[in-house]
Amino acid sequence: MNTNLKRPIRKAVFPVAGLGTRFLPATKVMPKEMLPINDRPLIQHVFEEAREAGIEEFLFITGRHKNMLEEHFDFQPELEDTLKSRGKTDMLEKVKSSEMPAGALFLTRQPRPLGLGHAVWCAQKLVGDEPFAVLLPDVLIHAKTGCLKQMVDLYAEYGGNLIAVEDVPRAETSKYGIVDTGGDHSAAMPVKGLVEKPNPEDAPSTLSVIGRYILQPEIFAHLAAFETGAGGEIQLTDAMARLINTQPFHAMRFDGKSYDCGSRLGFIEANLAYALADSEIGGDVQRILGEINENLTGKASIKAVS
Ligand code: G1P
Repeated sequence: MNTNLKRPIRKAVFPVAGLGTRFLPATKVMPKEMLPINDRPLIQHVFEEAREAGIEEFLFITGRHKNMLEEHFDFQPELEDTLKSRGKTDMLEKVKSSEMPAGALFLTRQPRPLGLGHAVWCAQKLVGDEPFAVLLPDVLIHAKTGCLKQMVDLYAEYGGNLIAVEDVPRAETSKYGIVDTGGDHSAAMPVKGLVEKPNPEDAPSTLSVIGRYILQPEIFAHLAAFETGAGGEIQLTDAMARLINTQPFHAMRFDGKSYDCGSRLGFIEANLAYALADSEIGGDVQRILGEINENLTGKASIKAVS
């Protein structure tokens, strides 16, 4: 294969301009990416996933009222000094680990919500002529090895474009990008087709795009056409579909469990899962859940009477 299609992935794009209307009023002034899952905001979880995968440059596609995101990753001297003087080294470590290395954070704005494809297009000048990753912070993947790291490892073998996928119930295909692999089940499944949010009866499969992508820079030429697709938006999926047959394009099933934190239910589920897996509070969370459940089912009151 053309070695140009196997160049290392150094940059990652984080589309963070969305308004978070599904979480109103919590997101009235706070960016939805700052909502916490266990002890850290969504954006930090995906930042850590990207860092683990060897990403060196973090490109945020932001919008109005998103300043808190860059503040979160900045050096906070007063906070660090206070923690240091109080000997709170654990907390200090946590704060430090959310700091962006100097010169690694780049921001640009998407002025209007024209779709994910448009958001990624906004990163063109920052990405330049090299392959890059895209991570959607709405989706968290709980895994031993981060999903993007798993992808980067497979990319080292296959190059080209690579997307992480998982099966969804057929009734839900209209919520996702859906991939046609022609029934292939290998580690790197050649992608034959891609369609954004098809109705269940039209979906070519039930394999959904989960929001982790490795893309070659040729995608930008297709995004620049600004063609609208599903929902009247400029779709990343449509631009990706145009790369099929022009460059290697594979789909990968990842090891781990995904959580759609863009929905309230997924957000709550993720919080429970991450808290239960936390060595510090997991046991207590389990106990509390048991107690809540008992109260709800009325067992507690029956016990109290007997
Ligand atoms: C976006 C993508 C879709 C993908 C989904 C994953 O949709 O357009 O292809 O399956 O993320 O969460 P959105 O959820 O922004 O509507």
